Amino acid sequence: MAFPGSIIITGANGFIGSEVLRCLRDRGVPGSRIVAVVREKHAMDPRQRMDQVFSRWVRAGAVRQVASLAEFGDGIRCVTWVDLREVLASQAAGHPVVIVHCAADTAFDMTLAEGRRINVGLTAKVIEAVIGATPAGGPGPDCRVIHVSTAFVAGKRRGFIREDEPDNGERGSSSFNNAYEQSKWEAERLVRASGIPWTIVRPSIVVGDSRSGFTLHFRVVYSVIRLWLRDVVPRAPVARDARIDIVPSDFVASAIVRLCELPVGASAGKTLHLCSGADAPGPVDVMAAAGRAFGRKPLPLSPPWVLRILLSRPVLAMSGHSMREILTTLAWHVPYLGSRGRVFDTAVAREVLGESHGTSPGFKDYGDRLFDYCAKTSWGHKCSTST
Ligand SMILES: NC(=O)c1ccc[n+]([C@@H]2O[C@H](COP(=O)([O-])OP(=O)(O)OC[C@H]3O[C@@H](n4cnc5c(N)ncnc54)[C@H](OP(=O)(O)O)[C@@H]3O)[C@@H](O)[C@H]2O)c1
Repeated sequence: MAFPGSIIITGANGFIGSEVLRCLRDRGVPGSRIVAVVREKHAMDPRQRMDQVFSRWVRAGAVRQVASLAEFGDGIRCVTWVDLREVLASQAAGHPVVIVHCAADTAFDMTLAEGRRINVGLTAKVIEAVIGATPAGGPGPDCRVIHVSTAFVAGKRRGFIREDEPDNGERGSSSFNNAYEQSKWEAERLVRASGIPWTIVRPSIVVGDSRSGFTLHFRVVYSVIRLWLRDVVPRAPVARDARIDIVPSDFVASAIVRLCELPVGASAGKTLHLCSGADAPGPVDVMAAAGRAFGRKPLPLSPPWVLRILLSRPVLAMSGHSMREILTTLAWHVPYLGSRGRVFDTAVAREVLGESHGTSPGFKDYGDRLFDYCAKTSWGHKCSTST
């Protein structure tokens, strides 16, 4: 890999962060050039939490040359957030450092106060650490930030969503589907105003690896498919002509690694959609792929407004506890199960990354592998048989 400096990944144990790590390893980047910023949790320190991720890779058959994984993993410096400032401050003057900021709370049901505290707050910590390490005019490392946002900062907007649209000022909560989207949008604004070199990447819904189906967790599209397979929803509340913008994790990780490799001037101040855009599959394509893996016929569709009626207070009051839970889960996911008339433009991503790194593989070429992996591993509970 061409990038000569250090790479700091926040949330390195999470889905996207760990996929970036896996991609760096595949490209031959030594662990000693990488710092993983991970919080302590469940009485485990960052090193133990990263070791858990590496074990998952091995059990799932997600890594090649397993024998050399220990060397890669041991080389990575694993630190907590408290250490981030010191890590940056200790870099030599002029040393190139890319911070890939992945850490965020991705729960759709968080409150706006939580979203601001965590998603905006963690972004502010990254910016403060960079500014603290590079005093104006003084010597310091040559830092830049790749901020991992989401295409869904678009909120409830429809139509053609461009990457380079100007920020048109305040947007209230009513223009977003939930506090996750709003807090991610507010975090983007903080990055843009920070004065440090930045690139924002906005993946849409990230699913497993297009080559193997491997995924660290089974959320969003997977959660809804699992509801279907439990036979608890008789109809899918999606429009036939809707599009679900999903992208495989290896595409997202490799685009982020490519940005690390490119000279800062190629992407500084740019926002890139890592999306399938006009080629996004429809809900029926996704259900059909899952149906093939699990030997099921796709559900009949019902218009999304039927779910809105089911979620009305009188209907919810008449439903049992488990039905209420199912309906509420579906309701949180509906904005991500397909939209009519919304396309995420990917022109800037393709221009900056080149067509091959900026264009997602087509769902028809990898969709079956995603759900075969789910079936074969019982949703990650069993080891994969692949190598
Ligand atoms: N997955 C997707 O489909 C998708 C799509 C578009 C954009 N994104 C963006 O990609 C980024 C990574 O998402 P992901 O799917 O990898 O999520 P994830 O698997 O849930 O990982 C999130 C990471 O953030 C850390 N984190 C969460 N709350 C934290 C807190 N309060 N303090 C410190 N660290 C915290 C987590 O640490 P713990 O393990 O300790 O909780 C984990 O390392 C996010 O910015 C998300 O908005 C994701």
